[in-house]
Amino acid sequence: MAVTDHWLSRPHWSTDIPLDTPHPRVGALAEHGYVVLRDLADPIPGAEYLDLEYMDWKSGGDTNFAPVATADGELDCRGFWKPGHERPDKGGRFTSNAEQCPRIVAEVESVGADFGRVRVIKLEPQPYDDALRQIHRDDNNRFNPDTDGWVVRSWLELTDFPDSFMVLMEQGDDGLPDPDTEVRVPLHCGSRFVVDTQRLWHVVCHTGTEPRYALISSFESGPALEAWIDAQLP
Ligand SMILES: [Fe+2]
Repeated sequence: MAVTDHWLSRPHWSTDIPLDTPHPRVGALAEHGYVVLRDLADPIPGAEYLDLEYMDWKSGGDTNFAPVATADGELDCRGFWKPGHERPDKGGRFTSNAEQCPRIVAEVESVGADFGRVRVIKLEPQPYDDALRQIHRDDNNRFNPDTDGWVVRSWLELTDFPDSFMVLMEQGDDGLPDPDTEVRVPLHCGSRFVVDTQRLWHVVCHTGTEPRYALISSFESGPALEAWIDAQLP
C-alpha cells in the first residue's frame, strides 16, 4: 500500500516507539504478538468496576480510566512518567480503588509477575472507522532497562459485548499499521488475552450502545508470566 493511501497520515507518534530491543520476551507472544487465553470462568461482579473512581483520560477513543495500581498508589493516570519521577511500568502499588475490587486484585496477583499500571477502562461506543483513527502502539518500555523483561499488557473483559473486538495489526515497512495483518479479538464477558502492545498497533471497535469495561494490566515478561500464560491457554 502506498504511503499516500493509508488512512493514518505520517508522521504518527507511534512509529518512532522502539520495536527491536534486547529486552527478554515471552515465547508465547513471539509469533503473533498476542495470545488468547481461556475465558474467565466466573464473571467479575459489576460493583467491582462500576463503583470505582474514574478519571478523565483519553486513550484509543472516548475513554475514562479507574486506576487500580499506579506508580505510587495515587489516583493518577500519568503515574509512571511523572516529570522528575520517571520509572518503568512495573512495581505498581494499589490505589484506594483496589479496596473496592478484591476479585480484580486477586486476578492481577494470581499472575505472579511484576505488574505496573492496572486500570479499568471505560470505553464509549466507537464504530470501526472511528476506531481505526485511534489505532496506536504503546510506549510500554520507556525507562525499562534493556536487561529487564519486556513489558506487555493483559486484558480481561468485564462487560459482555461479543460483537465488539480489539483490532490488532503488525507495523508495515512504511511505519504504519498493515491492514493485511489485521486480526480481531472478540470482547465477550470473561475474554482474556495478552498483547505486546508496543509491537502491535491496537484499538477497540465497540459496537454496543452502552460503555464497555475491561481490566488492563501491565506485566513484566519473565518466567512467571510465561508460566501463567502456559497455564491459562485454552
Ligand atoms: Fe494502547
